[in-house]
Amino acid sequence: MTKSKSILVTGGAGYIGSHTVVELYQAGYLPVIVDNLSRSNQSMLDGLHSILGVHVPFYQADCCDAQKLVEVIRRHDVACVMHFAAFKSVNESVANPLLYYRNNIDSLVAVLEAMRVTGVSDLVFSSSCTVYGQPDHIPVDELAPFKRAESPYGATKQMSERIIEDAIQLGLRAISLRYFNPIGAHPGSLIGELPIGVPNNLVPYVTQTAIGLREKLTIFGDDYNTPDGTCVRDFIHVCDVAEAHVKAMEYLQQQPSKHFLALNLGTGVGVSVKQLVETFIRVTGVNLNWVMGPRRDGDVEKVYANPELSASVLRWKSSRSLEQSLTDAWSWEKAIRKGI
Ligand code: NAD
Ligand code: WQD
Repeated sequence: MTKSKSILVTGGAGYIGSHTVVELYQAGYLPVIVDNLSRSNQSMLDGLHSILGVHVPFYQADCCDAQKLVEVIRRHDVACVMHFAAFKSVNESVANPLLYYRNNIDSLVAVLEAMRVTGVSDLVFSSSCTVYGQPDHIPVDELAPFKRAESPYGATKQMSERIIEDAIQLGLRAISLRYFNPIGAHPGSLIGELPIGVPNNLVPYVTQTAIGLREKLTIFGDDYNTPDGTCVRDFIHVCDVAEAHVKAMEYLQQQPSKHFLALNLGTGVGVSVKQLVETFIRVTGVNLNWVMGPRRDGDVEKVYANPELSASVLRWKSSRSLEQSLTDAWSWEKAIRKGI
């Protein structure tokens, strides 16, 4: 199949980027990956090869290097940039804030600089619901004000959105996708999330406990003002998130110059931590060892998306269930442990 347009996917060897590479390719585009593999590895590229049956172009390079990005954009006549490359651990960002400001902000500025130099106008950016903090109203919509970020990581996402909003004056069109809690994996278990060290996020911790890598899961707090006392989140299948990127890019192509929009990517359904754990046990049949523990510092009590704007603008909504997401997360965990 001849591919119509090349799309630069920074961080395309990572969790969400790799799933988006699959969606792009299957929609008829040629994804071109730039990733320094600082938080990923060759196995993700191998997984992409197995799914797609071809090697998509890959450059092991740092996205803070604008000149390298210019070279790649020119070589492939790139039509749009999807910028996933960033560090994403809240805890690590508290311990090492400068690393986060350096990587997440420098890489974005370098991407924008490379777009300016080469005349590429369209950017799809990976933002996060973390920009809202604990919103005053839930489901939270895109007009909710940013609260002071709880972590340097969250601050980089707030700053990034501001930088992009300013940069559209250069003639860009940009969309910032605020992901809620992406979970799960591609159904064939060839790509998925590769947590480094002990996971902070709930679902990798659940699957690693289920497979015996961790002794027990601790649920952080059951005294919140929620139906069962545990925190509430909006868990969305990573393939739904990936599909939305293709829609976002196609939407941007119809917009006038200097267009900026931020959109929530969530299901619109709040699920408590305890509900998620119970659902995991039910769909996998695994006897998960879990205990109730104290609250974790900095946790938001409850947050889930108002998905109406993304539904109307992108003509997209999430379609995969929580059960499907957890089944796929579990299959992925079993697949990676077999490979070790
Ligand atoms: P990930 O760590 O799996 O993927 C990020 C990829 O970017 C990795 O492959 C890493 O090697 C690469 N990378 C990092 N810095 C780089 C640099 N300077 N140059 C080149 N490559 C670099 O993370 P992910 O979960 O796929 O997240 C992708 C994006 O989505 C990030 O911007 C993240 O902040 C954002 N996000 C993630 C979540 C989530 O829960 N996973 C939620 C909201 C937003
Ligand atoms: C979910 C819930 C925990 C682990 C983080 C980032 C956010 C975004 C998504 C990138 C919370 C509870 C967790 C455990 C638990 N990422 N939990 N036991 O906190 O919603 O958001 O990831 O942008 O920026 O902050 O996700 O998966 O860490 O936690 O009880 O071992 O699970 O307390 O209520 P969170 P999470």
